[in-house]
Amino acid sequence: MLTVFVVLFQLSSCYALGISGADLPGKRLQNHGEIHKAKNLIDALSFKLHTKFEKFTLQSNENLVQSASIRDELKMLNKLKGLLNDLLNKSSVCEKFYTNFDFTAAREILIDSSASLQKDYTVALQVNHRELIDNNLALANGNDLRVYFRKDKDCRPREIDRVLENNATTKTRVLFKLQEDLSKTVRDGSAYYLVYGNKDAGKAKQNPENVYLFYDDFSDSILEKKWQKNWGDIRVENGVLKLRTRQTPTRDNGEISVFIKHGHEWEDIEVELDFNERNTGPQYPGPFLRVQDARIQSTTAWWFEYQTGSKYCTMRPFKNNKDGSWLYRGTLTKPLSAGSWYHAKYRVVGDRFSHWVNNQLIHNNVKVSRQWMITKGTLGLGCHKSNIGCHTFYDNIKITKYVPVSVSVSLGTECKVDLKKFHGLGTSEKNPATSCKQIHDVSLKDGKLDNGVYWIKTSADRSVRTYCDLTNGGWTLVGKVSGFVNKLYKFWLIKNYKVVALNNPALPSKVGCINARYLATYHASTVMFSSGDNQNGIGSKWVQWPLPQGRKSDSLWTHSVGRTTVSKARMYPVTVKAWNGKEQVCYQNKYGILPLSYHGGSYPSATHNTAGNTRVKDYCMSVGVQKTGTTADGWTQNGNGYDSARSDSDWPNSQYNHVSPYVTVWLK
Ligand SMILES: *[C@@H]1O[C@H](CO)[C@@H](O)[C@H](O)[C@H]1NC(C)=O
Ligand SMILES: *[C@@H]1O[C@H](CO)[C@@H](O)[C@H](O)[C@H]1NC(C)=O
Repeated sequence: MLTVFVVLFQLSSCYALGISGADLPGKRLQNHGEIHKAKNLIDALSFKLHTKFEKFTLQSNENLVQSASIRDELKMLNKLKGLLNDLLNKSSVCEKFYTNFDFTAAREILIDSSASLQKDYTVALQVNHRELIDNNLALANGNDLRVYFRKDKDCRPREIDRVLENNATTKTRVLFKLQEDLSKTVRDGSAYYLVYGNKDAGKAKQNPENVYLFYDDFSDSILEKKWQKNWGDIRVENGVLKLRTRQTPTRDNGEISVFIKHGHEWEDIEVELDFNERNTGPQYPGPFLRVQDARIQSTTAWWFEYQTGSKYCTMRPFKNNKDGSWLYRGTLTKPLSAGSWYHAKYRVVGDRFSHWVNNQLIHNNVKVSRQWMITKGTLGLGCHKSNIGCHTFYDNIKITKYVPVSVSVSLGTECKVDLKKFHGLGTSEKNPATSCKQIHDVSLKDGKLDNGVYWIKTSADRSVRTYCDLTNGGWTLVGKVSGFVNKLYKFWLIKNYKVVALNNPALPSKVGCINARYLATYHASTVMFSSGDNQNGIGSKWVQWPLPQGRKSDSLWTHSVGRTTVSKARMYPVTVKAWNGKEQVCYQNKYGILPLSYHGGSYPSATHNTAGNTRVKDYCMSVGVQKTGTTADGWTQNGNGYDSARSDSDWPNSQYNHVSPYVTVWLK
């Protein structure tokens, strides 16, 4: 019986998020009596099977085969049950988001298209972000406005990259890429969600390269590998691509200087970019679309060519270097001025193209004759031959797949988590909390705030018992140390080590800690050291500061990443607050580790200066993790890396070479 129930539990937690593919607007299913009837039938059937199964398992081994088959049937039934529950019960979606990710609201993103959409399609959703902010439902900085994707077989939704345009307005656009082809048939069983409502949210996943078909804002100091150099002098400087393109020895009319390597299969796309021709003269720069062949003397592409000092531009087709010249002429509203930035947009669809400059339409769905037809190709940038040649700057190149049908993207109804339902969160291994802060937020609604030991997640699917201070806002005890510990760096805050020591927060004690990196990365924003003079919560003396920006759950506080790596990370200022109302600006990096080579890589760490020096009697502190005179992961320890209190009466700290940290570490 037990095994069955474990399976059932996993299945139902998996299906708790629900399927709602059939749930297009206007086709909501909650009210259909048939579903309720089906649910009753399935409940009855499931009860019968359970009874049968119990009977078989109580009998002899002969019935093993039969009992296994019943188990399979039960599994299937349970799947169905989950699906039906979700059709009837939308609220379970946001509960799942709350228990796993701390978001209090979730809405399904409904994508409706008359044609199927391929998985590299960029979806644009419009949201009234202003209203959410004004109603205190979402953060003004947009950090909590995120997109999740779930597939039946993945069970757990995962965050996907999104880009916000016009955030904090009534017309905020949320852009993200489809994670799989979308057709009516695959639609069922996958879902995209917009979530918000997490006051402690750090930065969302927002890499534009995972949102657009192609994106480059040239913020790297070198030309990235996704580009292929072809001709001319090509460099990236100050966040801009700079091309100097003179005529080639063969003096062809148009040449491609550089192109995107992986775009040869692109058919219908939209391109946006900024360009600025520096040379007067006149010069003739512009992007090539549908680049099928970039080789000099074989150029095959559609070139959007401009001319400085002139209103005229053209779509100039080339086929195997044969030049269509000014065949598809367009007119700008004003002559193109050298040294000015222009924003251009292009759309190529089948044998047609459109073209805008500074939002003015230049070419309107112009048809290309069969002679000059090119069906697909990548994007290139180049120039017309001349002695001086072009000196063109390009920036913010953004390419999206274009689908010539209307795609409607809308939001399902908002489900807001009812925190009352979370009574008991953290009180059992089956029902762990993401943090003591979460238990605090939930019990605030209950009005019960008992400090004590609770189950807290140390990863998506593991949890441990540790102490929660709920009376001060929900601090999670993640480590305690009192006295010398050899090779503390081997496990300190990166492994669950003698966790039983965390059953109460008092010092002295055995050293103990949890793997706190998951909590610190996803469910907390502040770290605190405190004295160990309180049996029932945080100590009377403490310092706290924001957890480092850019931290990652696999490298935060991870001594083994090595001193070379840590010392390259930027040190930036952070304000440390102390129990007595004092504040001090200290420095930290994204690893949270003291970088100075002879201080043993102490952590968590806020240091006196960017080099990582230590001082006595200040509020910048670090826990020494490496014994004096030893070497590890590229650090040595001269004894001066023990920048914390060494007893409850030694706050802040009278020495930094005591080799005997005496603190508890908390996260909120
Ligand atoms: C809806 O979800 C709540 C919370 O998980 C649960 O208690 C309730 O039984 C569900 N209702 C149905 C009809 O499944
Ligand atoms: C919101 O807009 C501001 C101002 O344009 C910008 O600095 C910020 O990065 C944006 N936030 C997000 C999450 O995109």
